[in-house]
Amino acid sequence: MALRRIVILASGQGSNFVALTEAVQKKEIPRAEIVGLICNKEKAPVLEEARKRGVPFSVISSDRFRENGVFCRQPYEQALLQELRRLKPDLICLAGYLLLLGEEVIRTFPGKILNIHPSLLPKFKGLHAQKQALQAQERETGCTVHEVTQELDSGRILCQKRLAILPEDTEATLTHRLKKLEHQAYTEAVRKKCLEAIDEVEENRQKS
Ligand code: GRF
Repeated sequence: MALRRIVILASGQGSNFVALTEAVQKKEIPRAEIVGLICNKEKAPVLEEARKRGVPFSVISSDRFRENGVFCRQPYEQALLQELRRLKPDLICLAGYLLLLGEEVIRTFPGKILNIHPSLLPKFKGLHAQKQALQAQERETGCTVHEVTQELDSGRILCQKRLAILPEDTEATLTHRLKKLEHQAYTEAVRKKCLEAIDEVEENRQKS
């Protein structure tokens, strides 16, 4: 079976990008390769991480799709779709990608797009999930890797990890501790997806 082609979409620091790339290199994620990074920010630190690791990347700058300060979603989505089609992904991992994916992209890759979210979904969907957990005076929070569907932060959950909230926690300390868990959770979830794909190929082979 050919290697599973993984494309990562990210906009920021890239710690999840690094974790997934290293997990593939160490074969903790079996029979997979990271074939590209797509970033919507020209100066995002994740680009430097890709450069250092020799992962091919492309920038589709969302700023270039603004007219009079208004983001033009439709042409942006078409550019993204074109790049994704070129990369032929088996799996697309959103790793701190700060734009919502459009309907057509999600429809084109059903069950193939994963996202990581810093809360125990279905709790605290949307932005600032760590802050939401603190404000709700939760005693624990966590992170979730799930398949992306048309509904925000919903879809089949592949991996969830829990973390106790300490009385002295701030949004920053919580975010920091959560990231470490995120890296493990994302690796486990992608590994699970890749193994499912291998099982499926094997089942089909036995049937034929
Ligand atoms: C993570 O907290 C993730 O849960 C959220 O965006 C952040 C990305 O962090 N979706 P990084 O760029 O991978 O360090």
